[in-house]
Amino acid sequence: MDKLLITGGQPLAGDIRISGAKNAALPIMAATLLASGRSTIGNVPHLRDVTTMMELLGHVGADLVLDESLRIQIDASNVVGIVAPYDLVKTMRASIVVLGPLLARFGRAIVSLPGGCAIGSRPVNLHLQGLAAMGAEIHVENGYIHATAPRLRGADLMLDLVTVTGTENLMMAATLADGVTTIRNAAREPEVVDLADFLNAMGARVEGAGTDTIHIEGVPELHGAEYRILPDRIETGTYLVAVAMTGGEVRLKDTDPDLLGAVLAKLTEAGAQIETGSDWIRVCMTRGRPHPVDIHTSPYPGFPTDMQAQFTALNCIAEGSATITEAVFENRFMHVSELERMGARVKLEGNTAITSGVARLTGAPLMATDLRASASLVLAALVADGESTIDRIYHIDRGYETIEEKLSQLGARIRRVSH
Ligand code: UD1
Repeated sequence: MDKLLITGGQPLAGDIRISGAKNAALPIMAATLLASGRSTIGNVPHLRDVTTMMELLGHVGADLVLDESLRIQIDASNVVGIVAPYDLVKTMRASIVVLGPLLARFGRAIVSLPGGCAIGSRPVNLHLQGLAAMGAEIHVENGYIHATAPRLRGADLMLDLVTVTGTENLMMAATLADGVTTIRNAAREPEVVDLADFLNAMGARVEGAGTDTIHIEGVPELHGAEYRILPDRIETGTYLVAVAMTGGEVRLKDTDPDLLGAVLAKLTEAGAQIETGSDWIRVCMTRGRPHPVDIHTSPYPGFPTDMQAQFTALNCIAEGSATITEAVFENRFMHVSELERMGARVKLEGNTAITSGVARLTGAPLMATDLRASASLVLAALVADGESTIDRIYHIDRGYETIEEKLSQLGARIRRVSH
């Protein structure tokens, strides 16, 4: 199994390119199941989760080709399968986004229930309730969701909680339903908007994505489309926090500052200087230690839960105390015990972490537990005295494209070792 070996203490400097957004690529790839015909998707990040989605689409019978421009061409004309098996779903909860498209196009879908997850129970009840309100018959048997609906009907859906993949599943299902569907209390994440834009490029009629009310007028069929995935705002944010912690000056290219309002505000509060252009962000950190910043996670446009762990790491070396409240997921502080092993001082009280910044962290052998938690360990290791090893980095490979290459390019002492 691969490990990352990191020696801390190096300020970061230079330019790197930001990859396409994982959380847009996954539902957009799943959406190709809605049509026969070829779709061509550009700026797809090279990540383990993307490979899992490719395997899943291949499993149901889609043809996938990586073209010379590294775009993925997906043709779902000959899809015959409707089963998303446990072996694939268990490695990536986001596999659930094939449920809506398979059911809408083929009238049937059998998708493994994702099950537990390191960051909380993460149920899919709202996905299922929404599909049921659109006329699907749903039952769970032997760990699998069985959904049937010869033709879904448009419905007025009020989501009890803001759910990103739930909104996406229902939006995709509604594109081929009979009549108009309204999704209220919809997720407003930029990745939802990206999916809606792709669906519209396929011939769907989706309006209001990016607001909390989305209207979808069903059409009889969709066609393939060409699309380019938007930049990854969480990857962007992670490198910005890295610089705010190590000091230095870095320019991130091929990103979009407009997607990062809440994160950029917190970085400025921490003492980083931020300059932006239409597709780049420059971050410069000259003060010694960052100011502590209080964080309260919430759905977009609030502060993203996917950036919470990275800011926890930043607060661990800040000059003073801060309070971090995780309001989206239960049990998303797995990184705290590992950070404490590096000398961090954190007090956990339910869904709140109170950090008292220390002047130095020390390198340690560390274990990655989930995707963003692992990113926070990388950041802490970049500033720690001495060497850290991070084990189980398959978690990092799920969401960060060539993290060790990008950080090395900025001067970090980081390498991947296999053993
Ligand atoms: C997506 C993102 C993930 C991000 C999260 C929150 C993808 C592939 N993943 O995950 O990176 O951390 O949004 O921004 O886009 N819930 C229910 N019932 C449901 C669905 C959700 O109770 O049917 C709860 C969840 O347990 C959680 C909250 O709603 O507490 C938000 O979860 P949700 O937005 O659904 O997260 P994901 O879509 O899985």
